[in-house]
Amino acid sequence: MHLTAFFASALVVTIVNAHPGHDIATEIKERAAMMEQMSHRSLNHCAEEIRRSGMEARSVARRNALAAQLMTERGLTGRTAPIDTSHKSSKDYTLDTPVSTIFATNATCILSPEVTEGPYYVTGEYIRSDLTETQAGVKLHLDIQVLDIKTCKPVPRAYVEVWHTNATGVYSGVVANGNGNSADKTNTKKSFNRGVQQTTADGVVQFGTIFPGHYTGRTVHTHVMVHTNAVALANGTIKDTTASHVGQFFYDQDLITLVRKTSPYNTNKQSLTLNNRDGILTQASTRGDPFINYVMLGETSVSGGLLGWIAFGIDTTLAKKVSAAGQFTGN
Ligand SMILES: *[C@@H]1O[C@H](CO)[C@@H](O)[C@H](O)[C@H]1NC(C)=O
Ligand SMILES: *[C@@H]1O[C@H](CO)[C@@H](O)[C@H](O)[C@H]1NC(C)=O
Ligand SMILES: *[C@@H]1O[C@H](CO)[C@@H](O)[C@H](O)[C@H]1NC(C)=O
Repeated sequence: MHLTAFFASALVVTIVNAHPGHDIATEIKERAAMMEQMSHRSLNHCAEEIRRSGMEARSVARRNALAAQLMTERGLTGRTAPIDTSHKSSKDYTLDTPVSTIFATNATCILSPEVTEGPYYVTGEYIRSDLTETQAGVKLHLDIQVLDIKTCKPVPRAYVEVWHTNATGVYSGVVANGNGNSADKTNTKKSFNRGVQQTTADGVVQFGTIFPGHYTGRTVHTHVMVHTNAVALANGTIKDTTASHVGQFFYDQDLITLVRKTSPYNTNKQSLTLNNRDGILTQASTRGDPFINYVMLGETSVSGGLLGWIAFGIDTTLAKKVSAAGQFTGN
């Protein structure tokens, strides 16, 4: 064992002991039990239906339109299509690669159903597409599609919630050891990098946010929760104590490395856990590909922002009770 690897595992153990909420060993066990119950473990069986129904073509068009809009807004010209590295692709994309290939739904970019929401879930967040508030960081736009794992059809009118840390690895809304400065009680009132959107007829939601930072003991990730029974409230939030899906998305290590070199990510003093040392990611990867596909909107650097996309399947008949670290009440 390398010394650095040794220190990494020693650190994880310390955290687990000090903060029971971070005990990812329990999370992993619960997830494994849950996955065993699922009738389908990936969406591979849906590939044909996705193409036949025209869903793949619509996804390509939608992602391309979003990329074009974002590039225009930022004055990023010089390409007819945003092209750069893409998650896990064995293909080498070039300027001549058709957009239809780059943005295709295809792949097995499918998130297996998972089970726990972790210690940083806060209920009662706003229905909104821009989660950035005043947080500095690399702009990240997400196009997320939810499919029914049994029928391979999109899941319309579901509420999809995401939450993740800011550039220096702190979640809003929760004051806890291991989550930034626990003496700063004002964080309970904050809601940055959290929000909810309702899926379209094609099962799609889009969010504008920043690329997450890392925190000790975990690799960079974004939490996702899907509610199929939620009710929208008059004040722009939703009410639901159950979820049909609770999971996490991940990002290529190369991309994390590029982002970490930029400000303010480069001021994050927390220790970095690599993807291949993250227990939850290792487990999720055995049942699918939980990585966000992405393109850089700028020509050569992440500073122009990123467009990321993923499609995943849920079991719409599941309604698992979720527990939150807190509720956002707006005051
Ligand atoms: C998607 O996968 C199928 C085979 O599973 C392949 O024929 C098709 O070309 C792929 N599409 C893209 C855009 O890669
Ligand atoms: C992240 O959030 C914490 C808590 O609000 C804050 O102290 C910190 O400055 C934020 N990081 C950045 C880069 O803004
Ligand atoms: C929205 O309304 C619900 C129900 O009245 C309430 O519990 C919640 O605190 C409100 N949230 C905000 C952000 O105003």
